Amino acid sequence: MILRRPLSALLLLCLPVAGTFAAEPALEKLLPLKPEIRKIFDQSCVMCHGEVIDGQQEIRDDLDLSTDEAIRSTLPEVGRLKQYVLEDTMPHKPKLGRRLRGDPKMQERLTALKADYDKHGDKAVLLAWLKDVVATTGEKKE
Ligand code: HEC
Repeated sequence: MILRRPLSALLLLCLPVAGTFAAEPALEKLLPLKPEIRKIFDQSCVMCHGEVIDGQQEIRDDLDLSTDEAIRSTLPEVGRLKQYVLEDTMPHKPKLGRRLRGDPKMQERLTALKADYDKHGDKAVLLAWLKDVVATTGEKKE
């Protein structure tokens, strides 16, 4: 019992460090991504979250969904992902980044991407995959 306090002090010291490297447990359970989820991310999300376009990576909102490792290190909260999917924020609402906005081909690609997301029922697939995740509501966590 005498060991208890030094141990918890040690744990407290380690927690913030662990937090910067390990994903939250809810996210860890979803990785590695199932192939059907990888496919949706590649088709509907990576265009703004991780794809290299004209030699420069698009990482809107610092979120890179291109690989499991990138997701682990850049997705702050999987509950937020669920919230955005639930509310149809992604991929419907955001616009292209300033760099790509003036390119009609990219605009066309984005329009097609949104239509395909709806046509394929991707929202339902993502929500089934996120069924055990609690959606985050309210303000973004900093
Ligand atoms: C047209 C570009 C674009 C597409 C496509 C897109 N996003 Fe986003 N995403 C953004 C932008 C811009 C933001 C930040 C602004 C906002 O929150 O609306 C963002 C923010 C996010 C966030 C919040 C990250 C945080 O740090 O809180 C999540 C989660 C997210 N996107 C997931 C997705 C998913 C999943 C898809 C595919 C289904 C997707 N996005 C498709 C541009 C895009």
